[in-house]
Amino acid sequence: MIILGIESTCDETACAVVKNGREILSNIVSSQADLHNRLGGVMPELACRQHVDMLIPVIDQAIQKAGITLQDIDAIAVAHCPGLVGALLIGVTAAKSLAMALNKPLIGINHTEAHLYAALMSHPNSPKFPSLGVVLSGGHTAILEMQDSGNYTLIGQTVDDAIGEAFDKVAKMIGLPYPGGPHIEKWALRGNPSKYSFRAGNVKGKPHEFSFSGIKTSVLYTLRECTLDDQVRADVAASFQEAAFDDIILKLRRAIDKTGAKSVIFGGGVTNNKRLRAKCAEAFPHSELIWPFFELTLDNAAMIAGLGFQKHAQKKHSDMHLPAIPTIMWESK
Ligand code: KG4
Ligand code: ZN
Repeated sequence: MIILGIESTCDETACAVVKNGREILSNIVSSQADLHNRLGGVMPELACRQHVDMLIPVIDQAIQKAGITLQDIDAIAVAHCPGLVGALLIGVTAAKSLAMALNKPLIGINHTEAHLYAALMSHPNSPKFPSLGVVLSGGHTAILEMQDSGNYTLIGQTVDDAIGEAFDKVAKMIGLPYPGGPHIEKWALRGNPSKYSFRAGNVKGKPHEFSFSGIKTSVLYTLRECTLDDQVRADVAASFQEAAFDDIILKLRRAIDKTGAKSVIFGGGVTNNKRLRAKCAEAFPHSELIWPFFELTLDNAAMIAGLGFQKHAQKKHSDMHLPAIPTIMWESK
């Protein structure tokens, strides 16, 4: 079963061909990071123009690299939520056109759910359920209870910034390029994580919710009181990173205690961070921790096509009314 996946939720234009939900025949990503780096963050209008220019060449490349023809495709999967509405519309419109022209089923995919599927794709065996899904990306920070793959209940999410967004903003404050996460990770290696006592927020009465806007402000105030040099840069990076991950571990521990989850499935760009993986391994030695392959952590279309295979098998197809939805609605507990 061959699924073509399309991803255009934010600043990556991507297309992938995946066989039987796991075997990646091609995985093409055209990143706009350089473009947005010059402006210090993602500019939606520019992102959309870039998607329009890049989507067809990226689809062509994915087909060629996979060594297939369009006729070999069994279904088209596309990320239709959540994301920048204009960016989503470009991917959704392309997917609808392909599905109509080829007379193949169309499958709308939740990008955030696909980030978790990236971890499942990276492992030969399915996890022990009940499980927790932890999404740590530039747009989302959420803990979900997963009764099985495809059945999710929201346990907690951020009330303000997403964790990746906080990494990007702190990076900008200490003069590092966009996207900031990988740069913070690199600089943190040279810094003292105990130098500054940053702390992520707690939400009153909601022990599993996240808040990252306060920690950003603490970094700003700290920087006002010192001269930014390489040592300060490294110490701020290390102290911020440590505090952000301590908070993830705290909320995750509470969620494990609440649900009795046996395994944790991670997804999203921030899971690229090796310090996060090491800290979680140390904090949860008795849980099965399921991480995506490093090449599937950032936005990509292989995870869209992979999850598309699952939905196709369950006959969860969409029709030509498939909407582009900017926000995400989880069933809440
Ligand atoms: O999942 P993703 O590619 O896009 C969204 O769906 O948002 O995540 C991008 C985010 C960015 O905020 C980026 O700074 C962060 O992931 N990121 C990292 C690392 N690599 C990427 N954050 C921390 N450490 C990293 N190594
Ligand atoms: Zn993403």
